[in-house]
Amino acid sequence: MSLHQDGWSRGVALALALGCVSVGHADDAEIPTFPTELLGRPEGIAAGKAVFGQICKFCHGKSAYPGKAPKLNPSRYTPEFVYDRVTNGYRGMPSFREQFSEQERQAVVVYVMSREFSN
Ligand code: HEC
Repeated sequence: MSLHQDGWSRGVALALALGCVSVGHADDAEIPTFPTELLGRPEGIAAGKAVFGQICKFCHGKSAYPGKAPKLNPSRYTPEFVYDRVTNGYRGMPSFREQFSEQERQAVVVYVMSREFSN
């Protein structure tokens, strides 16, 4: 009888441990932080401008179909906000986590937040 008890409680302990592992594994809820020391770096601005021209401008640029996406207004944004949108997407805004490396996503944020940005 005592053997049976032990086996049962070990099973419960294992189930609880496994439950903990899956609760801790919430990738999509990750809150990105943006390294502010990158802002204003000329090489970041240039790299980000290239990323913007490759894809973002087709929805956000002057030549985009009107109404496809909002005109970007960086004075209302923080770098973290822009990085979050580019990384995770939001409603009609696609996620670029797979398409662009972390460095490229950071560069496009540097560009959007820079004085050179226009859309
Ligand atoms: C397929 C079209 C499309 C592409 C490509 C695209 N976006 Fe967007 N984006 C959208 C739409 C639509 C929204 C509005 C989402 C919403 O708030 O409903 C948006 C929203 C945003 C916002 C938030 C705007 C605000 O004022 O709330 C930012 C910042 C942004 N996009 C940046 C980018 C950047 C940088 C790129 C290039 C890496 C990019 N987008 C590429 C469609 C696009």
